[in-house]
Amino acid sequence: MKRINQFVFLVFLFLQIGTFARGVFAQILTFHDDIAPIIHTNCTPCHQQGGVAPFSLISYEDVSKRGKFVTQVTQSRYMPPWKADHEFRSFLNERILAQEDINKIKNWVESGMKEGKKRKDKKEPIGAPLPKPDLVLTMTKPYNLPADNSEDFRFFSIPTNLPKDTYISAVEFVAGNKQRVHHSRVMIDSTNKIRGIDGISEADPAVYKFQTVPLADEFMYGWVPGNLPVFFPEGIGKKLPKNADLILNMHYAPSPLKETDQSTVRFYFAKTKVNREVKTFILKEDAISNQPFFLPANTKSTFYMSSGAIDKDMSLLSIQPHAHVLGKSFKAFAITPDGDMIPLIKIDNWDFNWQTTYQFKTLTHVPKGSVIMVEGTYDNTAGNPENPNRPPKGVGYGWRTVDEMMNLIIYYVDYQQGDENISMEKR
Ligand code: HEC
Repeated sequence: MKRINQFVFLVFLFLQIGTFARGVFAQILTFHDDIAPIIHTNCTPCHQQGGVAPFSLISYEDVSKRGKFVTQVTQSRYMPPWKADHEFRSFLNERILAQEDINKIKNWVESGMKEGKKRKDKKEPIGAPLPKPDLVLTMTKPYNLPADNSEDFRFFSIPTNLPKDTYISAVEFVAGNKQRVHHSRVMIDSTNKIRGIDGISEADPAVYKFQTVPLADEFMYGWVPGNLPVFFPEGIGKKLPKNADLILNMHYAPSPLKETDQSTVRFYFAKTKVNREVKTFILKEDAISNQPFFLPANTKSTFYMSSGAIDKDMSLLSIQPHAHVLGKSFKAFAITPDGDMIPLIKIDNWDFNWQTTYQFKTLTHVPKGSVIMVEGTYDNTAGNPENPNRPPKGVGYGWRTVDEMMNLIIYYVDYQQGDENISMEKR
């Protein structure tokens, strides 16, 4: 009996050693076999020449010279940037590393960053290059940025010169000066009444005049670093009216350097017939139910917005929450007439610097009579490290970063039966 026990124990021991040895020795991770696929899928789309990130992460050299840094930012989940709660709602453009991949990166770095052999059968993917744009619109001339360490908010107009109404299937913003362009909002004016503004300041009284012009699109596209192009499924497009002008609302970060910016918007035309037009639905501060929208100094506040009962069936394509630096969390959902909850988005650690257009995986049906509700929390105490005022000051509505906002921007089409099955996957 004793012998059998010893025998069983020895077998057990061997098995354990085997598992241990496989863990230590068999798993020699190499860049080309194990790490490159993770980096190229999850990092390279931004970390490449012309991408939004400050350096490339493509080759062995790119990654190995920043090995420790790459481990840190993946361990902490700072990179790839993704703020929305995946359990509440997952999205098409989600960027989340699997824990297994995070561990692989760490193990590879700690085991000396072996390069391995480049696999001949594998081409080195350089992110996901986009097709050639059909219309490239660039600010008419370079704008001289202030060199006095002040924030700068400007408007520009760019004529499209389109000979006819044109449906677009994708839009992309490319910052001219990546260090300085903080965010950009693209609006569409089909009246040509705002044409010719070329870098006027948000504080310019003329702005009030043209703010009364009814725009064809108040929010064609919102961009901050990290926001990738927005695509629409086949048969669905956003209309760029004939001869319309783009109005860019640009926000530039402060700097002491003499620099310029000349940013670009790229459009991709729908290649097949568009029979459904993308519309924009915006919930903004006037939809707040507990007015006024004011954050007294040294307080934390929660605000609620409601759409009221929606008068038609909608199919949502994408959603973009917007707040400034005092924002702490943002949650949106719809309640259907049957009392069901449709989760839209939940961000527990709001980050002004990582705002994205969240694209749904399939069209999301919100039935007629539903109410879209938003809850946003703000922290205007000294305990908030993002608070620009020391000591805190009362903060109200405004477009400057030191003011606050609460917006939910939704792209949708009128609902048609079967929309739930339409995938938003890029063609
Ligand atoms: C959506 C675009 C995007 C993706 C995807 C992305 N990054 Fe970044 N990354 C940025 C931008 C922009 C910066 C510079 C701003 C900053 O540091 O926050 C940055 C900064 C960094 C930094 C420097 C951080 C610092 O504190 O200076 C590292 C390291 C990094 N990224 C690694 C990665 C890795 C590794 C991945 C993939 C696992 C990745 N990034 C994915 C956009 C991206």
